[in-house]
Amino acid sequence: MTKKSERKVKIIGTGMYVPDKVLTNADLEKMVDTTDEWIVTRTGIRERRIAAKDQATSDLALLASRRALKSARLEPQDIDVIIVATHTPDHYFPATACLLQAGLKAGLIPAFDLVGGCTGFLYALIVAEGLILGGVVRRALVVGAEMLTRITNWEDRNTCVLFGDGAGAVVLEESKDESGMLSHFWQADGNLGPLLILPAGGSKVPACHDTVAKRQHTLHMKGNEVFKHAVKRMAEAGEEVLKRAGVKKDAVDWLIPHQANMRIIEATGERLGIPREKVYVNIHRFGNVSVACIPMALDELNQAGNLKKGNIVLLDAFGAGFTWAAVALRW
Ligand code: ACO
Repeated sequence: MTKKSERKVKIIGTGMYVPDKVLTNADLEKMVDTTDEWIVTRTGIRERRIAAKDQATSDLALLASRRALKSARLEPQDIDVIIVATHTPDHYFPATACLLQAGLKAGLIPAFDLVGGCTGFLYALIVAEGLILGGVVRRALVVGAEMLTRITNWEDRNTCVLFGDGAGAVVLEESKDESGMLSHFWQADGNLGPLLILPAGGSKVPACHDTVAKRQHTLHMKGNEVFKHAVKRMAEAGEEVLKRAGVKKDAVDWLIPHQANMRIIEATGERLGIPREKVYVNIHRFGNVSVACIPMALDELNQAGNLKKGNIVLLDAFGAGFTWAAVALRW
C-alpha cells in the first residue's frame, strides 16, 4: 500500500535490551568443530549475547519496552495495544505480550503475539499501522523479542554459531507531519516452510521422549536454501516498497536489513544499489537475533543521533514461513 500525502503512522520511541553474557567465536570453537575464521568469513558474526538462565523472552521484552516508552516520554498506561513478535514465547500460552502487559502494569488493553519468522517485527509494524489508521487504537507498543539460543542444538555447528538473544521495541502513533511509514510490502510462501522449522512440540508432532531424544525441539534449517531465497526476496521487497513510496534509491539514508548473514546483507544492499555506508550492520556484535534485529538496529541508530528528521529509512526482512517484508519510512 502507498500512503503518500495521506495519513501516516510514525515511530515516536525506540528501545532495546540485550543480555550481559557474551559468547564469542572462540568460546564456540571449544563447543563444536568450527573456527572463528569460518564463522567470520561465512556469516560476519564475531560474538552474540546469551540470556541468563533465569531470564525468559518476556523479561527481555519488558526491559526493551520500558526504554522505548521512556524514549517516547510515555507511561505504560498511554499504550492501547501490545504486539510481540517472537518464535520463542515464554510459554505456548499465555501470550508473551500478555506477560509483558502485566510486567509493564499497562492498562487492560489487547495484547497478542505474532509469529512471522524473522520478518515478524515488520509484520507487527504493518498490523499496528493498520490498527492506528483504522481508528481501532491510538498508540501501539510493537516488540521483537527472541531467545533463539533456547531452541538451538548446541551440537549442530551449522546453526549454533548463528543466533543470539535480545529484544527491541518501538512505540507508534499517528503522525502530525510528513514523517512516518510511507509504504509497506509483505508476502509469504508456506510451500517452503520445511526449509526452516522447529519440527516438534506442536499439534503435528507433539512432544514426547522420542522427539526430545531426536532434538526435534530445536531449530532445523537448510541454510544454503534459505540464503538464496533471502537474497532474492529481500531485494524484491526493497525495490517494491521504494516504488510504492515513490522514493528513489539514492534518496535512501539508511537500509536496515534483517541481520541473518553479512553476505545476505551485502548482497541485498548491492542489488538495491544502496552504498555500504548506508547499510546498518550490527551482526558482528549480536549475531542473528531474529525479530529483534531490526528494532535493535533502529534503537542503536536513534540513540546515537544518527536518524535525522526527514531521513528515509528502508526496513527489509526475510524469515521462516517463508515470509518477507519491507517498510519505507520517513524519520
Ligand atoms: N564451522 C565450520 N564449518 C561449517 C560450519 C561451522 N560453524 N557450519 C557449516 N560448516 C560447513 C558445512 O558442514 C559444509 O561442509 P561440507 O561442504 O564439508 O559439507 C560447509 O561448511 C558449507 O556449508 P553450507 O551450509 O553450504 O555453508 P553456507 O555458505 O551456506 O553458510 C549459513 C551457512 C551461514 C547457515 C548460510 O547458509 C546462511 O546464513 N543461511 C541463511 C540463514 C538465514 O537467513 N536464516 C533465516 C533467518 S532465521 C529465522 O527465521 C529463525
